[in-house]
Amino acid sequence: MNIVIMGPPGAGKGTQAVRLAERFGLLHLSPGDLLRQAVKDGTELGRKAKDYMDSGRLVPDDVIIALIGERLREARGGRGVLLDGFPRTLPQAEALNRMLAESGQKLDVVVNLVLPEETAVRRLTGRRVCRRCGANYHVVYNPPAVEGVCDLCGGPLYQRSDDTEETARARLEVYRKETEPLVAYYAARGLLRDVDGTGGVDEVFGRLAETVGLSA
Ligand code: AP5
Repeated sequence: MNIVIMGPPGAGKGTQAVRLAERFGLLHLSPGDLLRQAVKDGTELGRKAKDYMDSGRLVPDDVIIALIGERLREARGGRGVLLDGFPRTLPQAEALNRMLAESGQKLDVVVNLVLPEETAVRRLTGRRVCRRCGANYHVVYNPPAVEGVCDLCGGPLYQRSDDTEETARARLEVYRKETEPLVAYYAARGLLRDVDGTGGVDEVFGRLAETVGLSA
């Protein structure tokens, strides 16, 4: 089964995608995570992507399509993929169709997490991430047991450079202009399922699992 999880920055895509992928044996592919790793490793991709990410703009389509295309080819033969944060533009959506078709596959469902913009801003500005294992926390909604320390691996928590209020709002604006048109694109193809992204993490997970037809 191949699933896209979309929604504005802060909608909870990453939080839910990790859980869904683990529970149902899907490969979780997140260009945001791959790009942050590339920045951390100081690779050429990381150097290309950093300025875009820090200002909340999208990294050019050709870079992202090549990155995801490579991972999709490696994933052939598995139980399916869960794409989190891809596609974000119409050219990316068309490229995904082509890349899946190359291996005789198709997209099964697109889940659109819906929530008010101010809730997204609160989630983004309070997010903390483990520098070592990448686990996600929130200073109010999901705090670690010890401030600044990851519950899972003991690594230090940090705030993403694009999680300031100014950049969070810029990312939401980019989402509205460049990614939201995909809602109509996928609705027209009968693939779109809106899911209420408000409420607690478990509550949203239950709705998502039911929507994609996997029992939680
Ligand atoms: P990316 O990392 O994908 O960022 P994003 O889409 O802006 O999404 P976020 O990671 O900010 O939010 P999320 O929806 O995953 O929420 P999360 O679960 O973390 O992309 C970063 C950048 O990379 C882009 O700006 C762009 O430059 C580049 N990029 C990436 N993909 C690209 C593409 N396809 N094309 C071009 N460029 C691309 O949750 C947020 C917070 O809320 C956390 O603290 C979490 O603990 C908390 N939370 C989650 N769920 C709940 C809940 N139910 N209740 C309370 N708190 C919750």
